[in-house]
Amino acid sequence: MNAPIDIKLVPITAQDGCQDSVLLNDWHVVGYSGDFQSGTIYPTRLLERDLIVWRSASGQVHVWEDLCIHRGARLSRGWISNDQVVCPYHGWEYDCTGKCTRMPAAPDEKPMKKAIAFSYKAEERFGFVWVCLGEPQSDIPDFPEWHDSQFMTVHSGPYQYGANGYRAIENFIDASHFPFVHSGLNGVKDNADRLEAYTVDEVETGLKSSEVRVFQPVGDATGHPLVAYYTYHALRPLVAYFSKRTQRADANGNPITDHCDTFGTFFTVQLVDQTHCIVRVCAGLNVQPAPDAETVRARADIIFNQDKDIVETQRPERIPTELRYELHHRTDLMGQRYRMWLRNKGISYGVI
Ligand code: FES
Ligand SMILES: [Fe+2]
Repeated sequence: MNAPIDIKLVPITAQDGCQDSVLLNDWHVVGYSGDFQSGTIYPTRLLERDLIVWRSASGQVHVWEDLCIHRGARLSRGWISNDQVVCPYHGWEYDCTGKCTRMPAAPDEKPMKKAIAFSYKAEERFGFVWVCLGEPQSDIPDFPEWHDSQFMTVHSGPYQYGANGYRAIENFIDASHFPFVHSGLNGVKDNADRLEAYTVDEVETGLKSSEVRVFQPVGDATGHPLVAYYTYHALRPLVAYFSKRTQRADANGNPITDHCDTFGTFFTVQLVDQTHCIVRVCAGLNVQPAPDAETVRARADIIFNQDKDIVETQRPERIPTELRYELHHRTDLMGQRYRMWLRNKGISYGVI
């Protein structure tokens, strides 16, 4: 009798690129839900692995290795026919479970059990498509504003950073760059905010700061001067979030109302490789008067392109998680704790 066939094969191409089990067993965003229409195959790259994303007629999204097990051709060069992925080389057809259903050179034969696509766990949440290349160790992190009907949610991006993804995250959870990188919007260059001491705790969802207070001449899409109180979270190595309370202020930064609006931002990073990433963002706003989505997106485009310009200059490109390689001030506590947290998780890919 033949031995049972192991159909949990690993693609040969997985021997290249990222071998970091923390990242391989985590969820990563590879696109917005709206990017993927049924009938088309979309290529993408995550952790140096080439993948395809496609949506079957039922609406289900699939993420597979961009590889045909037969002779290694790229499925992304193929097409969809009868809701199946067709390999462009010898025309093998794969159904939505990844099983090969037809080999045109032997149409009357049942394909071998090993003839499968390498499929990964994929989910849609918060308007993003997420994939895990290994075994997920935790659920996709939550974006609380998404579930609250008081909030409007607006996606922005993708922003292609020619930079390390952790550097992009660290920039997002850093308040002391506002007056310089976002002068006139999130801060005032000639009157930079003095940052009071804040704390960072490791909580169930990751890292969480206490509130950091800053003055913002145009702190959100309503266009008014605001005093903003940021609470930063590192939810996963490549997913961060802040919620900010804002109070209307005069031009000198004095609050002129007691009422606080809130504004949450969920920030995801797709590591293409160690020094290239794709940032995708979703904002949740409960602010008065409610701006339109285009205005929110236009402001996000300015802010995240300003961030991209500075993050792309940072050297070494891979973030040093050993603290002695850069200098950490008390005002950088969130970034410092983020680096230590990556290190304690045993992250080895994309860091030095
Ligand atoms: S390589 Fe895909 S069918 Fe031959
Ligand atoms: Fe920024």
